[in-house]
Amino acid sequence: MKLAATALTTILYVLATHKDVQRKARDEILRVLGDILTPTIDQQRELKYLNMVIKENLRLYPPKSCILPKTPIAINIYGIHHSPKYWKDPEEFIPGRFENENDEKREQYTWLTFGSGTRTCLGNNFSLIQQRVMLCALLRKYEVSLPADSIHQDKLHLDHFNSTLTRIQSLHLIFKRRTE
Ligand code: HEM
Repeated sequence: MKLAATALTTILYVLATHKDVQRKARDEILRVLGDILTPTIDQQRELKYLNMVIKENLRLYPPKSCILPKTPIAINIYGIHHSPKYWKDPEEFIPGRFENENDEKREQYTWLTFGSGTRTCLGNNFSLIQQRVMLCALLRKYEVSLPADSIHQDKLHLDHFNSTLTRIQSLHLIFKRRTE
């Protein structure tokens, strides 16, 4: 559950710091769901922009930053996700990279958030559904922002030392109830 909690935290951070993305994702949710609070599986497929935002967040901040298969090899997911060899402007948050046509051009095994092959994550789909459901509920009611005095104003401060997990230094966010 720690990995899922990291994914939910970093996506709220990117939405707080990219207000245009937050607005676009909210508009899509309101358009697709209407008054319904919890999206059906079909509606989740229709949330194309939200799905790109989720995927791009998991690229920029993979909750599991490194895989250690039971061999002498370690797979540095964070390093691959931030490599200019595979990603244009890798440090930028650009959900549009995951529009279908771009997806097809990309080299295989460059987006490794859930691992791959026989040891791939069993909770992959569950985790994506969880993020969609949470974001649909939250964005409808709240506007998320970063406090002006946040230590994360310039970038999200992570701690990768001595762990294969992405850890975030203490993060506070503001949730303002929407009136419209
Ligand atoms: C955003 C959330 C998550 C991320 C980023 C994530 C990531 C990963 C990664 C990278 C692996 C491969 C590990 C390896 O090859 O050594 C893995 C394996 C696994 N994950 Fe997840 N995971 C997430 C959520 C979950 C959830 C919610 C569950 C269960 C409900 C779950 C269950 C598993 C299991 C059982 C494996 C082991 C599969 C095997 O070795 O056969 N994961 N996960």
